[in-house]
Amino acid sequence: MVTAGGTREAIDPVRFLGNRSSGRMGNAIAVAAAERGAAVTLITTVAAPDDARVTVVGVDTADQMHAAVRSALPGADVLVMAAAVADYRMAHVAARKLKKRNSLTLDLVRTVDILASLADDPSRTDVLVIGFAAETDDVEANALRKLVEKRLDLVVLNDVSRPEIGMGSEENEVSVFDSAGLVAHISQRAKALVADALLDIVSDRLATAPRAQR
Ligand code: CTP
Repeated sequence: MVTAGGTREAIDPVRFLGNRSSGRMGNAIAVAAAERGAAVTLITTVAAPDDARVTVVGVDTADQMHAAVRSALPGADVLVMAAAVADYRMAHVAARKLKKRNSLTLDLVRTVDILASLADDPSRTDVLVIGFAAETDDVEANALRKLVEKRLDLVVLNDVSRPEIGMGSEENEVSVFDSAGLVAHISQRAKALVADALLDIVSDRLATAPRAQR
């Protein structure tokens, strides 16, 4: 299972809170996994790749993505959370279009942290869980904190302060960590090639830690 894109949280019938995620990294991982013969479910907020081997579930909001992840989790071997999930949504979505005024304060509340919430899901036990960490500061320390707090098997650190590899770009460069430290640095290259290098690591993990032992 792969998630991709940025979630969109409605403000009113015509506006939303969003982010710059293009969904390219998640799409590339989904296609690369299908290429290797995996049965892939892609949960995405953006246009999915034109690939008949990939089962696509379209979502908009963090809540919808959460529900889709939970429902696809039983039986999954691997979850790659490449999506940029909004951290806030409106406390109350306006039923009518907000009219302009001199200033506007939005009352926001936290969305569910999808990865962290899986801790209590018995279906998660056997799933290799990979999260992304989109960071601009203290990048490694923040990524390692997410690895622990979200109980990840692997975290993929993406320095989004660098425009050439940041959100929305064609290429990426990432470092992959597990609880023992750096697993691999994947140098700057097209996202399809980053996806392939990442799946080499995933394949190794699946081969060395059979489902019952994970
Ligand atoms: N994530 C999630 N649910 C959220 C927010 C993030 O499951 N509500 C997942 C992302 O898909 C990603 C990982 O958690 O795999 C880290 O996301 P990131 O945006 O880097 O971090 P946050 O947890 O949102 O923390 P912060 O905004 O403080 O950096």
